[in-house]
Amino acid sequence: MPEILVLYYSRGGSVAKLARQIARGIGEVEGMSARLRTVPPVAAVTETRAPPVPEDGAPYVDKQDLADCIGLAVGSPTRFGNMAAPMKFFIDSLGAEWASGALVGKPASVFTSTATQHGGQESTLLSMQVPLLHHGCVIVGLPYTEPLLSTTRTGGTPYGASHVAGGEDDPQPSEEEAVLARALGRRLAEIARRLDAHR
Ligand SMILES: Cc1cc2nc3c(=O)[nH]c(=O)nc-3n(C[C@H](O)[C@H](O)[C@H](O)COP(=O)(O)O)c2cc1C
Repeated sequence: MPEILVLYYSRGGSVAKLARQIARGIGEVEGMSARLRTVPPVAAVTETRAPPVPEDGAPYVDKQDLADCIGLAVGSPTRFGNMAAPMKFFIDSLGAEWASGALVGKPASVFTSTATQHGGQESTLLSMQVPLLHHGCVIVGLPYTEPLLSTTRTGGTPYGASHVAGGEDDPQPSEEEAVLARALGRRLAEIARRLDAHR
C-alpha cells in the first residue's frame, strides 16, 4: 500500500498528537496509509548515545523511509519562531537524498505547535517549507474551502496544521485543530495518490 511519511519531533506531546490526526486523515483516503516516524533529540555536547529505539511513540526515521514514501508531512514544535533543532539536524543530514533527488516531485505538508497564539506558527511553517522546496517537494497547504479555517479561535492555518498549547502546554488539539489536521492529511494523501499515478 502506498505510504505517506509523517515525520515529527515532539518533546511535550503536542506535535505528536497533531501527527496522529494527520495520519488519521491520510488513512481516510482509500488505498493510502501513514508511516509515523520521529527524529532523535540532539545535544550540543553528547556524552551518551540515545537508545536506538525511542522509549515510547513512533520509531526513529530511517533514510529508507524517505525513499519509500510517496509524500510526507513534517512536524516540529515552534522554537523561537522556527523549527526545533532535532528536525533541522535531521534535514541537514539529507545531502545524499538531495543529490539523488529522493524527494523530487513528492508532495509535502508541514505542521507545528506553539505555546501562544501569536508565537510564530506561520514563520515556523513557512521556514519548514524552505528546505522541502530545495528537495523538490510539491508543497501542499490547506485551502479556505475548509470552513473552519475562517472561524478557528485556536490553531489551523493555510500553511499547515497547527496547535496552540497555551500556558499549561496542553497537548490535546481543539476540535478545530483536529479537523483541520485530518483535512490536511486527507488532502496530502489524495494529491500524493494522483501524482504517484503519473510517475
Ligand atoms: C526553547 C523553546 C522555544 C520556544 N519558542 C516558542 C515560540 O517562539 N513561540 C511559542 O509560542 N512557543 C514557543 N515554545 C513553546 C513550544 O512551541 C510549545 O510548548 C509546543 O507546544 C511544544 O510542542 P511539543 O509538545 O510537541 O514538544 C518554545 C519552547 C521551547 C522549549
